[in-house]
Parts: sequence; C-alpha cells; structure tokens
Amino acid sequence: MQDLDENTVTEAALAQMVDTPDPRLKQIMDAAVRHLHAFAREVDLTPAEWLTGIQFLTAVGQACSPIRQEFILLADVLGVSAVVNALHDKKARELGTQSSLLGPFYREGAPELPLGALIAEHPTAPLITVYGQVTDNDGTPIPLASVQVWQTTEHGLYDLQERNGEAMDMRGNFRCDAEGRYHFRTVRPLGYSIPMDGPVGELVHRQHRHGFRPSHIHMLIGAEGHRELVTALYFGDDPHIDSDTVFGVSGSLVVEAKDDPASPVPGLQAVRYDFRLAKAAPGETGRVGADPGALMPRAAE
Ligand code: BEZ
Ligand code: FE
Repeated sequence: MQDLDENTVTEAALAQMVDTPDPRLKQIMDAAVRHLHAFAREVDLTPAEWLTGIQFLTAVGQACSPIRQEFILLADVLGVSAVVNALHDKKARELGTQSSLLGPFYREGAPELPLGALIAEHPTAPLITVYGQVTDNDGTPIPLASVQVWQTTEHGLYDLQERNGEAMDMRGNFRCDAEGRYHFRTVRPLGYSIPMDGPVGELVHRQHRHGFRPSHIHMLIGAEGHRELVTALYFGDDPHIDSDTVFGVSGSLVVEAKDDPASPVPGLQAVRYDFRLAKAAPGETGRVGADPGALMPRAAE
C-alpha cells in the first residue's frame, strides 16, 4: 500500500495512466497532470479556491451556445490560443503571412460575393476598399484562392451579437481572380470589447484589464496545395493596438486606410495587403478555433 502525499500522488496518477494505448493522448495527459499538480502545489490551492475554479469552469460551459464559445474566449484571454497559433506557424514548411486568432465570431457558410462587393448591409460610415494579391511564398500569384472575411460594423458589433445569429452581415466569401487578386468594400470596423457579460468577462474585470481588441478585419485564406491562413489586419491608429486583450496583433499585420491611386475603386480610401501562403505538407490540417455552431450544433427544431 502506497502512502500518498501532495508530491507522491503525481507519480501514482501517472502510473495509473501508463497503459494509455494512444501515445499522443498519453503524452498530453501526462503533461497536463504533472503541470496541474505542480500548479496546485505552487499556489498551495485551498479547497474553497478549488471549488471556485470548478464553479468558474462550469459557468464557462453553461455560457456556451451555438452562437457563443466561452471556452475559446477563455483560451484567448489567457493567451493560450496565441501560443497554439504560434506553435502551428512554426511547423509550416515555409514562412507565409503571420497568422492571428480566428476568434469566436467566425461562421461557416457566409455569402459568396463577387469581387468588389460591399459586405456591409447598412453602412453609416465612409466606405473603404480592402485589396491585394494572394501569392505563394516566392511571390507567384495563386489563381482563384478563396478569401473569407468577417468584421464588426462601424459600431463595434458582429452580426452574431447584434441579431443573435439570425442574419449574416459584415462577412463574405470571395474568390480571387486568375492573378490571385481580391478586393471588397466595407466600412472601417470599430475596435470592440470582447463579450464581457459572461464568466470570462468577469475574470477580465477582476484582473483590471480593459477587455478591448483593436479594430481589425479577419481573413481566412485557402488554396489547393497551400496551408490555410487564418489571420487579421489591424488598424494601426487604434488606441488599443499595443494592448490587445487576446494577444492577436503582430507588427506585420498592421495596416492603415489611405488615399491610394492604385486602388481598384477610385475615390475610396484603401487598405492594401498582399498575403503569402506557405505550401502545405502532405496531410497537413489545423485551424485554431471553429464556428461555434460546429462545436455545439443547434438542437433539432
Ligand atoms: C475576435 O477577434 O473576433 C475575437 C477574438 C478573441 C476573442 C474575442 C473576439
Ligand atoms: Fe474580431
């Protein structure tokens, strides 16, 4: 009979899991147990604090729905999503455009729109054009690459927040032309607070963090034979550009809207950004995040 204390229980737990047949599950669960035990010892976790943690995670789960993913939000504000993104980027065979968070507001099945279309249904701010070219890493254009975009309105809300997911707005799926060029019209999104009305928001409040993301446009770019790119373009003059609550901003993704005689839409300010896609390794997949509806499908009506 083993005498267990706060240290030896770690070895005992690892020993019970030693026959896990799936080697990756074994590696992940071994490390999770070692780190969780070390964490409890480091902070000398009390029973009341343990229960508070359990209640918090329960509330995070209860806040999830087909249009809201509170667990992804939790991973985002703790910087875990940014770490996983960076690890994923490092595994690429070649260096493409840097990635950024998918976030909890991505939706599959956005409208397919022709190049140049306006993605805003009711714009109340000046329009801008976003344009550029999708190439591979050595600058060769990728014909017909798919470009999915989504953003907040000029008031800082996603369609999922404003209309409970009943209608799609401020998003669209485009197909590049034969030279890999894309362009669309939109309004400049407003930087916004992450959803603060749930358990994750309460935590962020208690940590005296502001909860804001700088103004940005999400882009998800795909093409046959290339690594999918999940990224976003950030407007450099946003007051929160250096303190994004979810750690998504990188210098290489910062843009400005300006007068641009080369823009395909004369008379509108424009953001130009060219994306580079890395070649995919065989069988390579992976996206940090998902449409919340895919993680938790709506119940059958
Ligand atoms: C977003 O950019 O949509 C987002 C990302 C992480 C948390 C909340 C929102
Ligand atoms: Fe966003």
